[in-house]
Amino acid sequence: MADNPNIHTLISLVKSKNVPKHVAIIMDGNGRWAKMHGFARSVGHRYGVEKLKELLTVSKAIGIQYITVYAFSTENWSRPKEEVDTLMNLIVEFINREIDNIKKEGARIHVLGDYSVLPEKSRNAVQYAIDYTAENSELHLNVALNYGGRAELVRAFKLMAEEIQNGKLDINDIDEKTISEHLYTAGMPDPDLVIRTAGELRLSNFLPYQSAYSELWISPKDLYWPDFNKECFLRAIMEYQKRERRFGGLANKNI
Ligand code: FPP
Repeated sequence: MADNPNIHTLISLVKSKNVPKHVAIIMDGNGRWAKMHGFARSVGHRYGVEKLKELLTVSKAIGIQYITVYAFSTENWSRPKEEVDTLMNLIVEFINREIDNIKKEGARIHVLGDYSVLPEKSRNAVQYAIDYTAENSELHLNVALNYGGRAELVRAFKLMAEEIQNGKLDINDIDEKTISEHLYTAGMPDPDLVIRTAGELRLSNFLPYQSAYSELWISPKDLYWPDFNKECFLRAIMEYQKRERRFGGLANKNI
């Protein structure tokens, strides 16, 4: 379907201001969306994947460099097996169907989280996607899979402890940057903006270290991820562009 002409105006408007380098997204509300339409939860997740595709197109159009999406948390394993299987299969389907496009678009896939414990088919697909796009650098798509922010910090501390034991790291040299460099997002800028759909006012263990100074944009409760279209995304960024980021300092007008 052709884009609403309004989208092109919005894209130009957004591009004319400070475009965030890194946007992180909690894609919430697939289940509620499905229920509202009388569908199984899996249908909500399927529609959710379609939105992810749209998001990549528009992110590239406005020049965002990093997109991080929360696809599966360390807590999501406690969902019914059928739903976990659906999500694991959707990852494989998404990669099989979209990877050539993703590569052509100049996007590189990274995974945040321990994907070694994923079912073999999903793990292989993920590894393939990472390797196949490794040369790209225009847009980085971070997929948080079996990700939890606290687990990520535990991993970082263990890695640092190992380096201290091996004499590769001096305890006195540890600073905030050292910790950043041991996270899954090592070498990437922190998210400028964290978007959450479906209205919950929390971060749910998503990028707790990296989002310390991120701007938050939370949608109204009845805006579920499968309805979060390009226009919604661009409007969220326009709201971000109006914010004044102080990073703990003073507002410009007070200086
Ligand atoms: C939250 O909705 C969504 C998830 C737990 C999964 C998000 C995953 C996708 C959109 C697909 C990921 C796939 C790829 C290919 C990256 P919810 O189920 O918690 O919704 P609810 O809170 O309304 O029940």
